Amino acid sequence: MVCLTPMLATHYAGKTPVFADVLERDATLDPHFVETALQDDPGIGAVLAVHLYGHPVAMEVLDDICSKYGVLLIEDLAQAMGGKYANGVPFGAGGDCSVVSFGHTKILDVGGGGAFLTDNQAWARQAYTLAKQLAKPPTEIDKLYLLYRKLFYTVWECGQANPAFYKMFDPFPDLFRVMLLYGITEPIAAAIFNALDELDSEISHRKQIAALYRRELKNIDSIDFFDVSDASVPWRFTFRLAQRFRNDILEEVRLAEYDISSWYPSITDWTPSGRKQGRELFPVANTLEKQVVNLWVTKDYTEQKALSLTTMVKEILSKVSYSAG
Ligand SMILES: Cc1ncc(COP(=O)(O)O)c(C=O)c1O
Repeated sequence: MVCLTPMLATHYAGKTPVFADVLERDATLDPHFVETALQDDPGIGAVLAVHLYGHPVAMEVLDDICSKYGVLLIEDLAQAMGGKYANGVPFGAGGDCSVVSFGHTKILDVGGGGAFLTDNQAWARQAYTLAKQLAKPPTEIDKLYLLYRKLFYTVWECGQANPAFYKMFDPFPDLFRVMLLYGITEPIAAAIFNALDELDSEISHRKQIAALYRRELKNIDSIDFFDVSDASVPWRFTFRLAQRFRNDILEEVRLAEYDISSWYPSITDWTPSGRKQGRELFPVANTLEKQVVNLWVTKDYTEQKALSLTTMVKEILSKVSYSAG
């Protein structure tokens, strides 16, 4: 369960993604699945552990497994910048290296840019040299973003009706290469540098609003929470909703002009290698993708706004549960 970008990055690195299922408890990578994959396929060279929704991946177990099989462990902090495990260890401190995004919807959203983090000085120097060789962003980048969004949502919608349409994603890596693979600019680097000062207050706001949602939406039959205890940094507030109610909630909440989403889908059908593995290999992701609902925790969601939203969600749920008998 992830967006297309990590798959695109894999493609640009000349590698092939091999998918693993996620854990039902928090939608992060299932270490047992990873170990089986490493046993079966000695060609795998790296494991990408995504802190999806800001949830903590099972880092210690994955670290042991990756050391045992001699493969790299990369942490993807795109949705989890600033997160810490319950014992205080920051996300990104395990494994071999980490990647962070400062793009649209991320915890520190400055509109673009990313970072590669490592304690390995030689890798850091190499990454710096490679990054300097990247092209400048294309002048038509905003137009490309628009086209990407249009095509993306069209293919996604068609794919939901018939998974055969997901093959239309196959040319995306080549079509959108210049939109994705370019060097960081001075203004973006400066914006990231300045935004770092905001990290603590951003996280504390997110935690406060996520706690409010959790408090207000508990004890509702059709809602289940992920098991993340204190070790999470809310990307959004993500919960599981009985599948039969999800469309009603998404539609009605959007009609009332609040933000809500159903990210992330299970994307194994979106790439040739995932289709080869076969979607039946990923029962947990295939179940969760039909249930997840995200509510916003950004600073425009004050306690009052979040409270009005939960009141509305509860009203819609009691209405649709009643009509569903
Ligand atoms: C898990 C994950 N990794 C990587 C990315 C890539 O981020 P960006 O496209 O902003 O570089 C995203 C973006 O949504 C993401 O969710």
